[in-house]
Order: sequence, then structure tokens, then C-alpha cells
Amino acid sequence: MTSKLTLGLVIVSLITALTFTISTTQIARADSDKHEHGEEHEVLEQNMKIIGSAFRQLRRDARSKKFDETTLKNLERMQKSAIIAMHANEEEHITKKEDVIQYRSMMADLIKQFLDMEIAILKGENDKAAACVDEMNSLMKNGHGKYKN
Ligand code: HEM
Repeated sequence: MTSKLTLGLVIVSLITALTFTISTTQIARADSDKHEHGEEHEVLEQNMKIIGSAFRQLRRDARSKKFDETTLKNLERMQKSAIIAMHANEEEHITKKEDVIQYRSMMADLIKQFLDMEIAILKGENDKAAACVDEMNSLMKNGHGKYKN
């Protein structure tokens, strides 16, 4: 009776251990699949896409120096996405303190331009608003040169 109980316990333990091993292997495999398909860049990529398409329109507006409600809506989208992008540093494997500071500072400079441009448009300072787009352009070049593959 006791040996039957012991055998039963051994079998249950073995099944538990096997189930655990299989599930952790599956999690690890899912992670490595993510890696291969670049899904770990999801948040940053998605928000950069939003910033990118809004920026195309912003550049057009800056060329004619004509800004309207749509420009303001685009800026709002960019501001929100840039805040998320600013905190997505781990997706780029930026984890060392100095590197995080450098990455977030660059993103903060970008956000400042988005905010300054909004205020300039609201005040009707169209030259100033257009100059913000030039600043954004150089921040983008710097940021991509440093962080984008
Ligand atoms: C106005 C400024 C910016 C614009 C318009 C912009 C736009 C874009 C676009 C369109 C992409 C490609 C997204 C895709 O995969 O389809 C991208 C990717 C990226 N951008 Fe920006 N960007 C700007 C500023 C910045 C700054 C300042 C940084 C860094 C501090 C940065 C870092 C990155 C990185 C790391 C990626 C690659 C994301 C990934 O892993 O897929 N960007 N950006």
C-alpha cells in the first residue's frame, strides 16, 4: 500500500515536472520567435510610424507656412506617440543609465519642439512654427543615425 502510494506520488511529480518544462520551453520559444520577427520593437515601431506619417504632413504645412486644425491634430498625435517612444528604450536594449539618459534626452528635445510648434501656431507665429520643423528634422537624423538600424 505504502509502495503504491510512493509510486503514485513519483508519477504525479514526474508529470508536474514535465508539464512545467514543456510550458517554460514554449515561453522561451515564443520569446525567441518574437526576437526573430522583431516584435520586441513593436511599441517603438508603431509610434514611430505614427510620428512619421504626421511628420510628412507637417513638412508640407511648413513649406507653405499655412497651419490649421489638422496641423494641430497631427502635432497632438506626435506628442502622445513621442512620450510613449521616449519610454520604450528597453525595446532597443538601451538599459545602461547613461544611455537611457542620452536616448530620453533626445526624445525629450523632440517633444519640446512638438510643444513649441503648437504654441507658435496658436500665437500665429508661423515663421517660428516652420523653424521647429527644421529642428525636428535634424533631431530625427541624429536619432536615427544613433539608434535606428
Ligand atoms: C520627427 C522626428 C522623427 C520621425 C518623423 C521619425 C520617424 C520614424 C519612422 C517613419 C520610423 C520607421 C518605422 C517603421 O519601422 O516603419 C522610425 C524608426 C525609428 N526611430 Fe524615429 N523618427 C523621428 C525621431 C526619432 C528620434 C529622435 C529617435 C531617437 C531618439 C528615433 C528613433 C527611432 C528608432 C530607434 C527607430 C527604429 C524602430 C524599430 O525598432 O523598428 N526616431 N522613425
